[in-house]
Amino acid sequence: MAELVNLTIDGISVRVPKGTLVVDAAKSVGIDIPVFCYHPKLKPVGMCRMCLVDIGTPKIDPATRQVVRDEKGQPVIVFGPKLTTACTTPVSEGMVVRTATEQVRAAREDVLEFLLASHPLDCPICDKGGECPLQNLTMAHGPTVSRFDYDLKFHNDKHVPLGDLIFLDRERCIQCGRCVRFQSEIADDPVLQFHDRGRGMEIVTFSDPPFDSYFGGNTTDICPVGALTTADFRFKARPWELKTTPSLCTHCAVGCNLALNTRLETKTGGYEIKRVMPRQNEQVNEIWICDKGRYVHHFTRAEDRLHYPLIRQDGKLVETTWEQALRIAADRLERPSAILVGDRIANEDAFLIAQFAKAIGAALEQRPALPAHYADVARAVGIGSDADFKQLGAGDVILVVNGDVEEEAPVWFLRLRQAVVDRGAKLIVAHHRSTKMHRYAAAIHRYEVGQAAKWAASQRADWLQGARNVLIVFGDEHLDGSSARALAQTLANWLILGGFAGKPNSGLLPLYPHANTQGVFDMLEHATRPANETTDTLWLVGVGADEPAPRANFIIVQDILLTERAKRADLVLPALSFAEREGTFTSGDRRVQRFYRALPPLGEAKPDWWIVQEIARRFELPWRYEAPAQIFAAIAQQVPRYAELSYERISRVEPQWPPMGREDLYYGGTVYDNTGGLGARYAADAERSALSPYDVHVPEPTLAGLERTPRLLYRDGELIRRSAVLRAHIVAEPLTA
Ligand code: SF4
Ligand code: SF4
Ligand code: FES
Repeated sequence: MAELVNLTIDGISVRVPKGTLVVDAAKSVGIDIPVFCYHPKLKPVGMCRMCLVDIGTPKIDPATRQVVRDEKGQPVIVFGPKLTTACTTPVSEGMVVRTATEQVRAAREDVLEFLLASHPLDCPICDKGGECPLQNLTMAHGPTVSRFDYDLKFHNDKHVPLGDLIFLDRERCIQCGRCVRFQSEIADDPVLQFHDRGRGMEIVTFSDPPFDSYFGGNTTDICPVGALTTADFRFKARPWELKTTPSLCTHCAVGCNLALNTRLETKTGGYEIKRVMPRQNEQVNEIWICDKGRYVHHFTRAEDRLHYPLIRQDGKLVETTWEQALRIAADRLERPSAILVGDRIANEDAFLIAQFAKAIGAALEQRPALPAHYADVARAVGIGSDADFKQLGAGDVILVVNGDVEEEAPVWFLRLRQAVVDRGAKLIVAHHRSTKMHRYAAAIHRYEVGQAAKWAASQRADWLQGARNVLIVFGDEHLDGSSARALAQTLANWLILGGFAGKPNSGLLPLYPHANTQGVFDMLEHATRPANETTDTLWLVGVGADEPAPRANFIIVQDILLTERAKRADLVLPALSFAEREGTFTSGDRRVQRFYRALPPLGEAKPDWWIVQEIARRFELPWRYEAPAQIFAAIAQQVPRYAELSYERISRVEPQWPPMGREDLYYGGTVYDNTGGLGARYAADAERSALSPYDVHVPEPTLAGLERTPRLLYRDGELIRRSAVLRAHIVAEPLTA
């Protein structure tokens, strides 16, 4: 346990771990010391002086090295001649801090007066207006008048593009350096820097392409003024017009917690997402999200969203009623059928589909198909249900095999990098090409493309011996199903034989392609039956346009968009997107989390579970579910691993540190409080009982027929194509090794 230090702040006794900064110690007892350059997720720099306070320490007798005491036996406290920055000063035993003296008040006024001398009067048109720390702190601590001549106010360029996703308003910048430090300390994309000293000092980007980073949107959140804005949101709405709904990202296995900001649009008469923001979950994404999660949301209001069921008549798709569409679907599904299920639908949808497929004897497969070859292994030897990325550090080994963490799970990249760079975990990387993770690796292994399983089978894994914890992150790039399974089993065996399986911060972490790959696998598992190459009726539920599918006489496509695949279907069933309904996803580390309805339904589109239930009723399955919560209760009863989960449990929230709510003066930024639930992990099999090693069969590697494009964050797809701001970033070509 960390050594504790006692101090007094404004007369309140405080006990905090050694090394805590005064600003954080004050925060822990509800005392807000105003800050600008300090940010609890970044290293302190002491640049702005906004946090000046009066700090005293016990007087020490130089002869005896003992604390000098007054006649009442109390320590004599010696205050410094000047104020001290609370953001750079660690606490010490017996310290006395005064944050509310006349001297402190005057210092705060002075700092704000200086900052405002160079700051434009943009509040009425500034994107940050209404959620701006500079506004908030000026109201709380600023002078009521300025002694500076208004005509001498400093002006600088506005609307300066830092790349195509972020704009800089130079005269709004208060030179706190948070953006520069985020890019170098957290993202390790040091593409921003200060340029020119003096009053004209400005932020510049020097990468080519400019502001080259997957994480740049986070700088607009933590910028304490409206100097940095996103191309996606700038001038689109004022913060107080926005409705906020807790949600989840659907794009990778991390399961980042989001807040969807929506507004009613007079132009269209409907609600739409104006921006996507992070929602604090220190166990998942802290306060960060990647730019894909932030900007890809435009598919929710794409012009080709499906509003009504469509039926093919005379070679053309025409609108029809739900009654007719459901009757036709049910009639066709009475014939030999196959159902393919995408891994972006909710657990509740997948559960009903599995029950239905079993009931009618239909073939059932998950898409993409590859993860279904190893998801049972990843789950069996997965990280512990109480695993905490923050606890990984010195003494721990992180092994990344055949995965590109930044491309496939960007926020896990941030978290694992911190474990290595900031806290001393040892990183070993094995891949056939270079990835960003290679920068921090203590050891690098290389093999031929497609040969990850063979490489793993040839290793003795001695380098895991003596480790406190072993976390193994793995991907399936350029592997077929047998090789991917052999790789997962070999890695699992290292953990089982090394005694790491079932330990909280050890285990496998799979780089699945989407948000609910694990959940769909969990729901489908006992109902899966391979489809024949041809079938009479094929029902595709949320399946990517490029996924292979059997030939069929009649194709039903259930989707949110009129995709290329939907255009060729015989019957199209319109589904609601994640933003228009509620449900749960299970992340790659088995955390089950809720998302909520942020937008009203679109046309007559329905949630996937409703469509499945309506078809099932025509087969006389007695379902009468009215909401996903009821279906989840059935999941908890029938899927043993989910038995301890409930909507109530996964909706629970608790105070998080550092506190960053929107009402918080301390941070005052724009990350959202978590009101939607922190989620909960179900236990890995290894936590319940000891596992025997897998009997691994490593096949000869084959690349024939395999997808050769690495799983890049901005790879082409139906959803990213509908985001105008990201379109220029789409990568369609394979990377060279
Ligand atoms: S742009 Fe914003 S975050 Fe960056 S230095 Fe200026 S005020 Fe700080
Ligand atoms: S890291 Fe993954 S889950 Fe998080 S915002 Fe990015 S794509 Fe979404
Ligand atoms: S110097 Fe402490 S917040 Fe800037």
